[in-house]
Amino acid sequence: MRFTSLLFFAAFIGSALAEAAPRVEIQSPDGSISAKFIRMGATITQLWLKDKHGRAVDVILGYDDTTRWWTDPKQPYFNSIIGRYANRIKNGTFSIPITKYPQPPGPNVYQIPRNDRDGQVSLHGGEIGWDRRNWTLVERSRTSLTYKHIDNGDQGFPGVVTAFATHTVSNGGVLRTSLTARATKKTPLMLTQHLYWNLDGFQNGVNDTLGHTLQIDGSKVIEVDGNLIPTGKFIDVTGTPFDFRKPMLHGARLDEAQGLCGAPCSLYDHCWVYDKGAKAKQPVTTLIGEKSGIRLDITTNQDAVQVYSSWGLNITQPKAAHRGAGLAYGRYSGIAIEQQGLIDAINTPEWGVNQIQDPKKTYEWVTTHKFTTLR
Ligand SMILES: *[C@@H]1O[C@H](CO)[C@@H](O)[C@H](O)[C@H]1NC(C)=O
Ligand SMILES: *[C@@H]1O[C@H](CO)[C@@H](O)[C@H](O)[C@H]1NC(C)=O
Ligand SMILES: *[C@@H]1O[C@H](CO)[C@@H](O)[C@H](O)[C@H]1NC(C)=O
Ligand SMILES: *[C@@H]1O[C@H](CO)[C@@H](O)[C@H](O)[C@H]1NC(C)=O
Repeated sequence: MRFTSLLFFAAFIGSALAEAAPRVEIQSPDGSISAKFIRMGATITQLWLKDKHGRAVDVILGYDDTTRWWTDPKQPYFNSIIGRYANRIKNGTFSIPITKYPQPPGPNVYQIPRNDRDGQVSLHGGEIGWDRRNWTLVERSRTSLTYKHIDNGDQGFPGVVTAFATHTVSNGGVLRTSLTARATKKTPLMLTQHLYWNLDGFQNGVNDTLGHTLQIDGSKVIEVDGNLIPTGKFIDVTGTPFDFRKPMLHGARLDEAQGLCGAPCSLYDHCWVYDKGAKAKQPVTTLIGEKSGIRLDITTNQDAVQVYSSWGLNITQPKAAHRGAGLAYGRYSGIAIEQQGLIDAINTPEWGVNQIQDPKKTYEWVTTHKFTTLR
């Protein structure tokens, strides 16, 4: 994205709009999909589709009172853009160029806040990641919004990163989100969008996603330790509860998946490496709601996907539209699906994955969510 005078003008109008209208809406011309946003984290707060009966369903978790995105201490990164480095970094430490953990102290060794796992891990960009920042709305139409964020490096990362997030809806139930970013210095850069799905919208007395059908085009999962930090090895999914190469119910292997995501956490909080990765033109993840018949097909330019079964979710007073089945979002109420790079590759040089952004290049992340209904 270029800094044209038009963009500066749009930025001026945009920030005025953002103040006046904390939540803005976009809708496809055919009415098949609409979404609402807040500027904190360039976050989607509502995503409305029609189920197989033609009823409107909000398919993502969140709050009606949008201030709870920044006031609820248990707010679990609901549907926000995550940066500058998504997921976990071992002990919040890395070096440039990258080296194997533990890095001996030196001028090229960086330390960012360890805000997870009793101070042993950095999660989602540090204490105040991009999801907690008030982005500026810089462009707006009936079908598309662009937010801008400048990360000045206050979490301890090198250099300044300027990022844009564009959300677009289009006919036939399509949501496309693209992220672009430029850095002033070499820095780790690995972004995601932390969407929490419940494609049934809690209708018909179902308050969890265990009966959602999931398919992932990945035959290996990153092996992690008890802190969910990579060991450097991969798990072959064959014959394990991780094998979603053929469609399988999200909760089908619950009995075998006790304690799997770091005891006592059960089911998944894991990173699948896509077999075709960024080269795939086909959807690489599919999710289907058992009651709504809403089918979500995801295409992305990312190499991997983190799936979190929401074991730790415990949020009272969910959206009014979601109170049908219970008074809280609890265990497995949502399933978080996050398109991203290989986790903590900056501490795992043996993988040969480059996540250090070159200031001469533009980082680009694109994911398309396509919704249809099964009859
Ligand atoms: C984590 O980093 C800190 C500060 O850099 C260091 O003192 C500590 O030993 C590290 N912890 C582990 C478990 O390596
Ligand atoms: C973001 O905006 C909200 C509402 O104006 C405010 O309460 C909050 O402190 C802001 N957050 C940051 C990090 O500036
Ligand atoms: C969920 O949170 C409530 C308070 O909001 C607490 O009383 C309850 O014990 C929590 N449940 C679990 C399973 O952690
Ligand atoms: C979900 O529903 C089950 C029974 O249908 C109930 O036991 C459970 O408390 C509900 N959970 C939440 C978080 O509302």
